[in-house]
Amino acid sequence: MSEKIRVLIGEEELNRRIAEIGAQISRDYEGEQVCLICILKGAAFFACELSKRITLPVNLEFMSVSSYGASTVSSGVIEMKRDLEESIENKNVIVVEDIIDTGRTLKYLFEELRGRGPKSIKLCTMLDKPQRRVVDVRPDYVGFEVPDEFVVGYGLDYSQRYRNLPYIGILEMA
Ligand code: IMP
Ligand code: MG
Repeated sequence: MSEKIRVLIGEEELNRRIAEIGAQISRDYEGEQVCLICILKGAAFFACELSKRITLPVNLEFMSVSSYGASTVSSGVIEMKRDLEESIENKNVIVVEDIIDTGRTLKYLFEELRGRGPKSIKLCTMLDKPQRRVVDVRPDYVGFEVPDEFVVGYGLDYSQRYRNLPYIGILEMA
């Protein structure tokens, strides 16, 4: 089987939208400090670019949870691979995700993080696949809604490949 990538969201469009979300967050939290929690590895590019577009004091933290193995189908099994190094008590937390698909990963993660007593908690995702949702998860900030296709690039992988593409593309198996 050969793989082909069809461009869905180009680099410029992506960066323009990230700047808009950064400006929106800067307005919404005016006078406050925000703690961005980047969900590794997929959200790394997005979270770093987003943090540069926020004009408030920002803490950038990283954690890793996984619900996917080396396939394109959600297993429903979630594993905490790397926890935060800092407490989030009394902080304005924004969880930054690459894509919300079934919503299982985020639902689990939100319950866990809410229990740690943040001042507020919101969800920001680069991509949203609302058609695929099986649990009720509603992001507060969405970069782009995407169709029910497997997408790669700008942090998103297929078996750990394609994360480094500077755009979002649809993976086509020929
Ligand atoms: P969920 O728990 O089903 O919402 O899965 C979310 C996670 O699955 C994301 O953080 C991604 O790591 C992965 N994922 C879901 N859809 C895609 C896709 O189209 N391309 C690459 N990874 C995906
Ligand atoms: Mg992910």
